[in-house]
This record gives sequence, structure tokens and C-alpha cells, in this order.
Amino acid sequence: MEFATKTIHAGQPSEPETGSLIAPIFQTSTYEQDEPGVNRGFDYSRTNNPTRARLEAVLAELEGVKYCATFGSGLAAENAVLQAYLKPGDEIVIPLDVYGGTYRILNKVFQPIGCVITQIDLGRDGALEAALSPRTKLVWIESPTNPRLLVYDIAAVAAATHAAGALLVVDNTFASPLFQQPFTLGADLVVHSVTKYLAGHSDVIQGAVLAKDPAVFEPVKFLQNATGAVPAPFDCWLTLRGLKTLELRMQRHADNAEAIAKALDGHPLVKRVYFPGLPNHPGHEIAKRQMTGFGGMVSFELNGTVEEVVSFVSSRRFFALGESLGGVKALVCHPARMTHASIPADERAKLGLSDTLVRLSTGCEHQRDLVADLLEGLAAIEEARALNTAAAGVTEPAYAHAVSAVGYGEGV
Ligand SMILES: Cc1ncc(COP(=O)(O)O)c(C=O)c1O
Repeated sequence: MEFATKTIHAGQPSEPETGSLIAPIFQTSTYEQDEPGVNRGFDYSRTNNPTRARLEAVLAELEGVKYCATFGSGLAAENAVLQAYLKPGDEIVIPLDVYGGTYRILNKVFQPIGCVITQIDLGRDGALEAALSPRTKLVWIESPTNPRLLVYDIAAVAAATHAAGALLVVDNTFASPLFQQPFTLGADLVVHSVTKYLAGHSDVIQGAVLAKDPAVFEPVKFLQNATGAVPAPFDCWLTLRGLKTLELRMQRHADNAEAIAKALDGHPLVKRVYFPGLPNHPGHEIAKRQMTGFGGMVSFELNGTVEEVVSFVSSRRFFALGESLGGVKALVCHPARMTHASIPADERAKLGLSDTLVRLSTGCEHQRDLVADLLEGLAAIEEARALNTAAAGVTEPAYAHAVSAVGYGEGV
């Protein structure tokens, strides 16, 4: 079965009792048993639920494995993996450019109980090997990373991790299983913030953990029931609905991201564009090798002040200012003040996370509208500067990057 067919058919037969093409939401907490202890596969909805089971079946198919457990959020999914595999004294290696919430749960929840968190520049040759020790239980990476979209060679990281006797966890949220299949590259566990591309409509908070090996999956599955951070049936149903257009949406996101990256690259107000699809991106070659698309995220550093960034991100027509990503509606975010605010300023500086970095989650809108909106925002900064210069009595001509020069003029 091809990917798009799996999103619609895998684990989702018509409902047997009525033939309902789309299975109903099994909004139930418990199940009538035939005899004490004899049930029809379901006994209590924290343990299992038919709507959730359908979602877990299709997610497993999409990542090419058999085992999936869903959770009430991406962080609940992360917590299950960390609790399953980290005991006091155990070590975990993470890269510098890790999602802020992963950094926070490790440093504020797991470090205080005695786990050792080693954060490394994973792109530096030999850094991973030097960080691994006999006490390393997990190596945890994202690729592309959040928010600079750095790309790591997952197969190489997996080889080094396994040589040290540890497990590799890949957070595949940014790529989605359409564009990247971490298990084929050696991952032992894959986590998702299902909230993002998988659900796809910014209306659900949900997470998932996937594994290839039943023995690796078992402790996570145990914690799903034992600690109980399960998703509601209605949310599972919404994700099942969203998943059916995953391929269509991802292709649109990726096309939009490419158009935006090209429009921003070289703009005088843009210091640097981060998009793995640009040939000047340091991870471009690896991305070409291990991904089948470059994703829908673009970040860029504004060549300006933090105040200009704040004004830019607060006044877009189509990019709503908000946390999160991966939905059909475009979003813009200022990581230093939003998603990554939980990382102290000095740490952010060490991570190369500039205070003028802007992160874009391209939606499924038309790319002409999205690109025009961004170029208009940059033009507004230039106009404001020109006005300030004129007000200060300087007579140099104001420069204006012509919005129409790249074909994205007003008429949107
Ligand atoms: C890469 C990544 N992983 C995990 C998470 C956490 O997921 P959730 O917000 O669903 O708890 C996020 C959230 O932004 C994320 O961006």
C-alpha cells in the first residue's frame, strides 16, 4: 500500500455493525463483558479504546512498524519514553538545538531525580562518541531541528548510539512520516507531537510513541496505561480525519516553504534563511539523502532589531502569531520570546538561537498570499526606517526591496 492509501485505509475498515464508512467515535469509558474477565478486546478506555486503536494502527503503518501508543500530548509521549528508560544515574545525550519543552522536561523533571543530561553540538565530528558512556541509555534527536532546521545524519547517529549500547529516539514531528522514515535509518523509538502535521488542523493536542521491537515498546505501553496520560476518543477521531489528507497537506506545506525560502533568501533585511531545501543550507546534502521532502518550516534571522521583529510578527495578514506549527493555517513565531523562552538567554545565545530569529509554519494557503504577506512586512520595516531617517534630517534615498520584483505583487 502506498503512503496516501495507508492514511485512508490502514487500520480503518468501515464499522462492521452498521457499515458506517467512517467509524464512529467510541465515546465510552467501559465495555460490557460477556462473563467476568471475558471481553471483546476492550475492558476500560484508559487501557484501550476502539477509536484510539484505529489511530494507533494507522500511525504504526505510516512509520512502517507494528507498535504505537498515543498520549494526551507530545510531551506526555516524551515523558513515557523518558520514564521508561531513565533511572537515577542514567545518562541521556541531546543536541544543542532541541525543542524547548524537551530541554525543560529533562532539566526540570529528570535532572532533579538524578538523571544526567549531556547536551552536545551534534554536528561536530566526534562530539557524540565523546559524550557516550556506559551509563548512556538514550540518545534523543530531532531532525530537522526546532527552530533552526538543522539536519543530522540519523543513520550515523544510530550507528554510534548502538555501538555504545544505547537506544536512539528520533522526534519525527517536523519531517512527518511522509518525508522521513527514521526506523529505516536505525531509530529504536520515534516520538511525535501529533498536535502538529499528523493532526494537521491546529485543533488537537496529542502525542505518539512508536517502536519496531516489542521489547523496546513494552515499557512505554505499560506506562501508557499505568500513568494514564491517554488521548480522548474524540481527539483520536479528529486525528484520524486529519491524517487522511496528510500527504496532500505535506506536499502543499513543502511547496509553500520552498517558495518562501527562495523569496526571503538574499533579501536585504534577511540575514539568513534556514530551510533544508536551500542548497546553501549546511544540512542540504544529508536532507536530500534521508528525506523525501524538505518539510513545511522556514526560519530566518531578521537583519534588524528585536523591536522590528516584534512589529513584523505581530502584524501579518495570513501568518497568525502563535505557538505551534503544522496546521493548515500559517503561523509565525518569535522563538526567543515564545517556544524557546524557557531556555535562559545565555543558553539561547550558546545554541546560536538569535533574538531576531523568526519561525514560520507555512500553512496550506496559496503561496502567493503567504510570500506577499512576508515581503509586505519587510517592506514596512524599510519604510519605517526611511521615515525615521528622513525625520532625523538625513537625505539618503530610502531603499525599498520591490515586492513585485519576484512576482509576488499586491493583487493577492
Ligand atoms: C519537535 C517537538 N516535539 C515535541 C513537542 C511537544 O508536543 P506537544 O505540544 O503536543 O506536547 C513539540 C511541541 O511544539 C515539538 O515542536
